[in-house]
Amino acid sequence: MTKSTASRRARRATNRSGESGVFALPGFDPSVVVELSRLFPQGEGSTFQNARSEIGIQTEFLLRVLRSCEPGLVLETGTHKGHFGYFLQLAVPGARLDTFGIDPGSQLAADYLNDRLGGFVRFELGDSKVTLQSYSPTEPICFAWIDGGHDYATCLSDLEHCARLAVSHVCVDDHKTETGVQQAVAAFVDQCPYEFQGLSEDTRGIAYLTRVEGREGGCPGAA
Ligand SMILES: C[S@@+](CC[C@H](N)C(=O)[O-])C[C@H]1O[C@@H](n2cnc3c(N)ncnc32)[C@H](O)[C@@H]1O
Repeated sequence: MTKSTASRRARRATNRSGESGVFALPGFDPSVVVELSRLFPQGEGSTFQNARSEIGIQTEFLLRVLRSCEPGLVLETGTHKGHFGYFLQLAVPGARLDTFGIDPGSQLAADYLNDRLGGFVRFELGDSKVTLQSYSPTEPICFAWIDGGHDYATCLSDLEHCARLAVSHVCVDDHKTETGVQQAVAAFVDQCPYEFQGLSEDTRGIAYLTRVEGREGGCPGAA
């Protein structure tokens, strides 16, 4: 994405009240977020569990990546309360989400999103280091949101599955705050055919990686 394209997209995502990211998207309904958080109240760190300005910066960053990709099928690790699923449905209506999470309560979030917004979410319960091993989607995945276990081993395993599945655009949350994530991203771009494109400006820090064709050698499990 060139700088001028990125800034045009950024302008388009800001509404007349000067709000950006998810808050500027048509149809955003805060009651959906309230309901998702009520269904599964435990835990921190979901997309909408942050200061409003930080959510704006993060979702604006994700929107720019999603718009350069226009995905049909999206992969997520770390389902939690289904907040990312709701954001995705607003950002790319019609996209489908395969999401892998370790919390049984995430099923409630997936069921709610499917009932309310159309059946676009498929939730798979378990440790993504295990469940992703048998994951073989029948269509290409253009975008992945890696936001599950933030320890080195889990994050690196999730990223290596992105390489196996030849995902073109990968965003990894909490790069600024989690040492395990930082180290996993560094090891991944060192071994696998991906380039580091940048980091979002919020305090969590989303790392954005893109696939480089023709550099598969040395990457565990790469396609
Ligand atoms: C930061 S939250 C995810 C937030 C969500 N992606 C969003 O954008 O709203 C991280 C989630 O990953 C889950 N998790 C931790 N380790 C995991 C693992 N090994 N496999 C799958 N999910 C895991 C946590 O239990 C938690 O629900």
